[in-house]
Amino acid sequence: MDLRKTLDSYPQVFVVCDRTVEAFARLLGDYPTLTFYASESTKTPETAVEICRWLLEHGADRDALVIAVGGGVTTDLVGFAASIYKRGIRYANVPTTLLAMVDAGLGGKTGVNLDDYKNMLGSFRQPEFTWLLPDVLRSLPRREFLSGAAEMLKTFIIDNREDGYARTVKLLSDFAATGVSPVDTSAGLEELSALISAASAVKQDIVSRDPLERGERRVLNLGHTWAHAIEWWQHQAAGAPARPYTHGEAVAIGIIAAARKAEELGIAEALPAPSPASSAPSPSAPRRLSEKLAADFAACGLPTELPCSEDELAAAIARDKKAEASKGSGSKTVNYVLPVRIGKVVISAVSLPS
Ligand SMILES: NC(=O)c1ccc[n+]([C@@H]2O[C@H](COP(=O)([O-])OP(=O)(O)OC[C@H]3O[C@@H](n4cnc5c(N)ncnc54)[C@H](O)[C@@H]3O)[C@@H](O)[C@H]2O)c1
Repeated sequence: MDLRKTLDSYPQVFVVCDRTVEAFARLLGDYPTLTFYASESTKTPETAVEICRWLLEHGADRDALVIAVGGGVTTDLVGFAASIYKRGIRYANVPTTLLAMVDAGLGGKTGVNLDDYKNMLGSFRQPEFTWLLPDVLRSLPRREFLSGAAEMLKTFIIDNREDGYARTVKLLSDFAATGVSPVDTSAGLEELSALISAASAVKQDIVSRDPLERGERRVLNLGHTWAHAIEWWQHQAAGAPARPYTHGEAVAIGIIAAARKAEELGIAEALPAPSPASSAPSPSAPRRLSEKLAADFAACGLPTELPCSEDELAAAIARDKKAEASKGSGSKTVNYVLPVRIGKVVISAVSLPS
């Protein structure tokens, strides 16, 4: 896609970008640009209103296009502002984190936080396009890179297109072992770009079948029931870690918890036995899906264990907006997304103890 040509076809273009990537945003062209500090604490209704006010002051009309340049905070926030300004104008995403390239920048879920509640205000509004340029990831800190990689692994556990799961594990475990980031070699960047394309295609396909998350799209929440609970717990609890988990790290832990739940409920398939031709399996070779995922994630440098007890997280899980009261019973049901094997997940409603 020729971005310049595409942008020239819109009568008005505005850019809203995360201050960290301002220099990159300026490369898009000479457009009115608003920069802000992107963080969960600025992903608020107040910042969305500031963006709307700035658009109004700059004469943005209903044909305008707003481009979000930044990570998931920016794409969620700018998408939300675009969806309410003059009852909705067009927007596009230029994601600059791996997480936003494979997840947040796709699918049209926009949102802002309301007090302590994440993404409590939001809308569905599809971006005009999402422009992927993996070179921009060169400046992304390693921890942020891994956070996005966890969402990429999640995507391939849902749909293992092009053998994306094993290829992602290989890329990341090489990175963990050598310290050389995939973005720093041409072969690494090429492989990463191919994996980003495959993961984004998986998400786009799911979204195209269920744009408003009425059913199938919920599979993309794999690991998120626990991840949101961990994020809430570490925000509230006195004993929470000094260096809180990133969203992707919390998702990685949540995926392992989901695999253990799937095994407990008899939903996860046993791992295929090693072929007789292969050398004798080591006694430490994983025998369950959760063990394989934990070994792979650890090799990639991702955390795998809950930071507190299941009991401590139960309250947070029940409080999550995805927990619904069962009709008549007063007890709550959580729709868990559970892995059956790598490449297949199911949604299973489980009652929480009242
Ligand atoms: N809408 C969706 O479907 C969806 C899906 C998943 C996550 N999300 C949301 O996405 C957000 C998390 O996204 P994120 O991890 O991208 O967070 P983020 O936008 O906060 O970016 C993470 C950090 O990286 C910095 N950064 C961004 N690009 C950079 C670059 N190229 N080089 C150096 N630093 C860079 C940012 O300034 C920030 O400090 C959360 O708010 C989450 O709710 C939304």
